[in-house]
This record gives sequence, structure tokens and C-alpha cells, in this order.
Amino acid sequence: MVDVEETLHVYQSKINALFEPSGLVLKPPEEAEESTSTLESEGAILLTGSTGALGSHLLNTLLERGTQMVYRLNRSKDSRNAQIESNRNRGLPLRFSEDRVKFFTADLALPQLGLQDSDFAQLQRSVTRIIHNAWSVDFNKSLQSFADCLDGIVGLVGFEAASPRPVTDQFVSSIASAGGTGQDQIVPEAVLDSTRGPASTGYGQSKDVAEKMLAHASKVLGIRSMSVRVGQVSGDALRKRGWNRREWLPSLVVSSPHLGVLPESLGCADDGNEVRWIPVDSAARILHDMSRKTMAIGSNETLNVVHPKPTPWAELLLAVQTVLDKVASERGGKPLEIVTYGECQTMSANPAVKLLPFIESLLSEEPLFGAFAIDRAMASSESMRVLEPLQSDCLQAWATKWIQGRDS
Ligand SMILES: NC(=O)c1ccc[n+]([C@@H]2O[C@H](COP(=O)([O-])OP(=O)(O)OC[C@H]3O[C@@H](n4cnc5c(N)ncnc54)[C@H](OP(=O)(O)O)[C@@H]3O)[C@@H](O)[C@H]2O)c1
Repeated sequence: MVDVEETLHVYQSKINALFEPSGLVLKPPEEAEESTSTLESEGAILLTGSTGALGSHLLNTLLERGTQMVYRLNRSKDSRNAQIESNRNRGLPLRFSEDRVKFFTADLALPQLGLQDSDFAQLQRSVTRIIHNAWSVDFNKSLQSFADCLDGIVGLVGFEAASPRPVTDQFVSSIASAGGTGQDQIVPEAVLDSTRGPASTGYGQSKDVAEKMLAHASKVLGIRSMSVRVGQVSGDALRKRGWNRREWLPSLVVSSPHLGVLPESLGCADDGNEVRWIPVDSAARILHDMSRKTMAIGSNETLNVVHPKPTPWAELLLAVQTVLDKVASERGGKPLEIVTYGECQTMSANPAVKLLPFIESLLSEEPLFGAFAIDRAMASSESMRVLEPLQSDCLQAWATKWIQGRDS
């Protein structure tokens, strides 16, 4: 197993070596020019991972809120059509003005982000903000398997350090990076020190390494970087759709009619009795608010985004139960029984009902995380301050779609 500290050391060295081969001399932080950007001259946004759930909403938010130019960097060969397909599945707009959205196929780990010279030069001239959202969201992979994502961080850092304009880099991290924090500790809005244990999954470890790489890059290269640790993102609250039924909670709901039961708590997710999921449309607005922060040269910031107003699972459970009992009655079946999380797992010993390993991992007495400090995040985002508690009608609408075999 590859050690987190060891991996971090390797990637910090890659950041240190960024300009050595080309002989470019880096401006130390104090010599770099101060930002003069105003909203009028704020330049373009470079967005990654826009074909995914959160990325599609980020793109939509940027356009709704008037961003003049978004450069979308994705790995898909047919980048425009990949976006149209993703937006269609989510009920988001399908037309993109050539003047406001440019589609690029890129590989962040390659020199010049895998772009042609002229495209790379265009981006360098105009980008002032990066929202780096692309990542492999897989809880079963080892830290080692995230090498392409970590190399992508090096690529973006190189882009910023060589840019003639001041660039602010927002990295969409995850609360999973704090998975090694004891349940009795508050997760600070700061880079985690090494006295905390490593995150429990390769995914969480990769996010932790990336956060630390950015903090290092700010220190040695003078870039402005921000890591936003996002908690569980749910479906779209406005359109009442778009929570992929292959994710853990939807798949638990879909399995329930086969098991004949629903769990009274969610094991060690959140604290099992209340949930802090953030609808994907709200998460995109929060990230956009934060991406507009003015940051000083060489500064690095960490913000925690978990829902400030949790909803009791019992309320949401009732909504799911209503949907499932209606379906059961239409099919001549019995209403679902509410059982403990452990009993729910025991029922799933039925080989016909294979629950995701992540659902099984929630069978623990201890919550997954301690509490998250969110003061700085709240101060940085109006959208987070006005966030309403997750409504049970959302869960009812999402659950109806999952049971019908649809994501959206
Ligand atoms: N969903 C959550 O609850 C949650 C919570 C906390 C943080 N986050 C973070 O939010 C971001 C978006 O998550 P999501 O739920 O929207 O995930 P998603 O739907 O799986 O989307 C992931 C996006 O990243 C791209 N991507 C995946 N692996 C990649 C790789 N190895 N190299 C380059 N691009 C890659 C995908 O592109 P393709 O279309 O080419 O596959 C897609 O555009 C991620 O950084 C994730 O860690 C999500």
C-alpha cells in the first residue's frame, strides 16, 4: 500500500521541479503582481469535469450568473456532445453560445494540458479563475490509482504559475479527505496536519494529498489556491431530479422493496439520524460564490461545505416509505418494515440483493466524521447562508424516479 506522506512528497517534488526543465525562473510570491481584477475585467473561467453531476450544474450556474467566457476542459473526444448528453439527462439547457462557452478536449497531466499551442496561449491570456471539479469518484480505488488526477493538479498549478494574469484556483475537494479525523475532533477549515490519521479510502487520501499539494504550490509558487471540502451532494432540488440511482443512498432505496425493510438510521453516515446532504444545484451556487473570493498572492484557503441545517432522517424516511408503500400496494405486496441499520444489512445477506460495499461499510457504531467547522464557508457564500433544510418532497420525487428505474 502506498503511504499518503510518501505520495505527497513525490508530488511536492513534481511541483518544485515544474519550471526546472524549461529554465523558466519563477517569480517568488512577494514579487508577483498584485491582482487588479474587477468584475468587469475578471476574465474567463476554466472549468473541469463539467460532464458530471456537479460539473453540469457548475456550468449552468456560471452561465445563469453571467460569466462571460467558460473554457470547458474535458477528456471526452467529442466534448460538446458529451456536455449536451449530460445536460439532457439533468434537464439543463442544451444550447451553448459560441461566444460564452468553448469546448476543449484536454488531459491536464500532459504538457500544456494536452492543448494545441494556440488554444493554450488563448487560455493563458484570458483565464483568471479555475474551478477544478474533475476527479474519479470511486470509493473502492487505491490512492495509487488516482495518479492521473494528482498529475492533473500539477498540470493546473503549472498553468497558473506561468500565467501572465493572476489566477485563482478553486479545487473541489471532499469531506472524505478528513476521514482520518477522530469523531471527537472538529474538522477545521485548514489543511489537515499529519497527526490526524490518513483518510480511510484511497479517494479520501487522494483529495487530502491534492489539498496539501495546492497549499504547497501557493507557498512555493505564489499561486492563489482554495480547496473546498464538499459533503454529500444529493439531487437537484429545483428540478427534483438528477441523483444517480447507482449512488449509495439511491441504491439502498432501490434495494428496499426486495429486502422488505427500510433502515431507521443510516448507520454511521452523518450521525445516522440526521443528514447534511446539499442539493447539487445549491452546491454549484455555493462553489461559484466562493470562487469569486479575492485572494492574496501566495494564499491558500480551505473551506468546509456541509449543510448548516441538517434534516432528521426520520422525516426523509417517511417520504421514502410513502413512495415504496404505494408501489408495494399497487403490486399487491406488504408495506415495508422499519428495522435497525444492522438488521437491514442482515437481510441483505440474500445473494439476490447485493448492496454496495460503501453501504456495508456504514455498519459501525461510530460516525464516519467528527463535526465540520463551517464559519469561513458561511462567510464566503451567500448561497450557503440562505440554504434551506432538505425538504422531504425532494426525496419523495427522487425516490419515485429511482423506483421507476430513472435517474432523472
Ligand atoms: N457527488 C458528491 O456527493 C461529491 C461530494 C464531495 C465532493 N465531490 C466532488 O465533486 C466533483 C464532481 O463530483 P460528481 O459527483 O459530479 O462526479 P461525477 O458525476 O462522477 O463527475 C466527475 C467528472 O469528472 C470527470 N472525471 C472523472 N474521472 C476523471 C479522470 N480520471 N480524469 C479526468 N476527468 C475525470 C468526469 O468526466 P467524464 O465525463 O469524462 O467521465 C466528470 O466530468 C468531484 O471532484 C468529487 O470528488 C462530489
